[in-house]
Amino acid sequence: MCGIVGYIGAKECTAILVNSLKKLEYRGYDSAGIALFEDDRIKTVKAKGKIDEGLMKRLAEEPHFTATAGIGHTRWATHGEPSDINSHPIGNGRVSIVHNGIIENYRKIKEFLTDKGYGFESQTDTEAVAKLLDYNYNGDPIDTIIKTIADIEGAYALGIMFREHKNRLFAARKESPLIVGKGNGEMFIASDVTAILEYTREYYLLEPGEIADITSDGVKFYDIHKNRIEKELQTADWDISAAEKGGYAHFMLKEICEQPDALKKTINPRIKDGVPDFSECGLTDEKLRNYHHIYIVGCGSAMHAGMVGKYVIEKLARTPVVVDIASEFRYRDPLLAPDDLVVIISQSGETADTKAALELANSIGADTLAIVNVVGSSIAREAKMVMYTLAGPEISVCSTKAYMVQAAFMYLLAFRVAYARNAIDEAECRQLIAELAEIPSKVQQCVDDQAQYQKVASKLMSADSLLYIGRGLDYALSMEGSLKLKEISYIHSESYAAGELKHGTISLIEEGMPVIAVATQHDLYKKTMSNIKEVKSRGATVIMVCSEDMKFDEADNDSPVDYPVMLPLARDLLMPLVAVVPLQLIAYYTAALKNFDVDHPRNLAKSVTVE
Ligand code: G6P
Repeated sequence: MCGIVGYIGAKECTAILVNSLKKLEYRGYDSAGIALFEDDRIKTVKAKGKIDEGLMKRLAEEPHFTATAGIGHTRWATHGEPSDINSHPIGNGRVSIVHNGIIENYRKIKEFLTDKGYGFESQTDTEAVAKLLDYNYNGDPIDTIIKTIADIEGAYALGIMFREHKNRLFAARKESPLIVGKGNGEMFIASDVTAILEYTREYYLLEPGEIADITSDGVKFYDIHKNRIEKELQTADWDISAAEKGGYAHFMLKEICEQPDALKKTINPRIKDGVPDFSECGLTDEKLRNYHHIYIVGCGSAMHAGMVGKYVIEKLARTPVVVDIASEFRYRDPLLAPDDLVVIISQSGETADTKAALELANSIGADTLAIVNVVGSSIAREAKMVMYTLAGPEISVCSTKAYMVQAAFMYLLAFRVAYARNAIDEAECRQLIAELAEIPSKVQQCVDDQAQYQKVASKLMSADSLLYIGRGLDYALSMEGSLKLKEISYIHSESYAAGELKHGTISLIEEGMPVIAVATQHDLYKKTMSNIKEVKSRGATVIMVCSEDMKFDEADNDSPVDYPVMLPLARDLLMPLVAVVPLQLIAYYTAALKNFDVDHPRNLAKSVTVE
């Protein structure tokens, strides 16, 4: 989604703004721009397309200029197509703004301003805010901003410049996140901390309804009544190397390789005396015993991690779990009650639908537990209980390590729910934890064995369409495998419960169509094998991801499996954590072989902050 940066200090800032914008490329965008104070005017340079192809070329065409303050933006189009004119910053010479979010009443504002004689050039909702700021301008920027935000509805994070106040930048937010970075004689604005990590790790988190008045020496914060607010300085514990590629071809590959480490960081601090411990967030055994229902809600890969959670919690704790896609949950009037637990999973902590689902659960009085990666994010702050996944920044749009640690958290939760409800005893709980602690080394073995995934990828890269099949936990995993492939390789794929194929989908199988069968569950192996034979006999090329004790003779012409991918052994229940690695790497190599922009897949955004 869109990204915001801003700089004010003593240094020439074009390069700083562009560099910070590049750090936000991972969020997904289709145009970029900057606005700077140059002498007595606001100079704007912006262009459709990626920073290197659009904005950088435009900047190279400009006559030499210097500036020490400005704002910048990467836009992911919502209102109006990706184009130069719709790119941010947007303004009229007196005011210039960058905006994340959606202004819901922008038409009304436009009509009002059109009546007052304003013209509009772009198709954006943002232009309505820029022109309203201009209309409300009375020489005092804070008054002007307060008056303006009182009239706008929707979600926003704004970076604002007024031509007449060239030593100041302003920022305001509601819903969409925004921080103010503090350097030495320089200050920053950013929609997420990775944009400015190279310059500072110290920042203030802007809360909804707050306004920042920023100079190179510091920042003053105001509420909507113009009262001054004191805020605490935060320190990011992510360092810059975590947000850089470090020699890998892509962030996605780097993050896949970081998974053993990410798992340890997530799991180890949550184990006390050999069993999972949730006391850091106040989730007691008494609460776990008393919840009537458990809901798990998220979007995309986070929801898929929830699917693993459902299988594992139900299996171990014999407690029903409902997994919901956040955008469905929020509108389907769920049967929630105050004695239910709603587990909200989100890497970014900012996904609009997931946040709305959390707000709904809070409003009904249910207990809410957020499992979030980004510290201080909206979901982390709004949930009644929060546990961080501690995976470090995930830059690749296609989620890998965040899914891995979310799924790992599902196991910790499942073990504790089962233990609290006496469905397993302490010895069994300890045994499960001991086996979970072995998983990072098995993930490492998969990561080290990349040749076999490259071989499979070379078979998939020319496919138009394929299927992932599995049963039980393997079905949950198939969903994630299929999503990874389609996100970055643009090959159509679907995941199917293997036993359901016969009820329609098998008609799609034709000669040479790849089917990736996930078969890690020994009790379901024979059943899945029957389904594999069904697709094989109809011409499918079968890739089977299975445990290493499920042996195949590759020379056997009768084998229904064309390409077996063998996994190190672990308890069946834990296998999703191991088996997801080949699925991630198969997707990665397929997209890389097709020469696609793996880290920035078309049309996708890292953090979907609009509905
Ligand atoms: C986007 C990302 C996905 C992610 C989903 C949920 O669609 O591209 O990778 O799984 O949002 O994001 P969240 O930050 O809430 O986990």
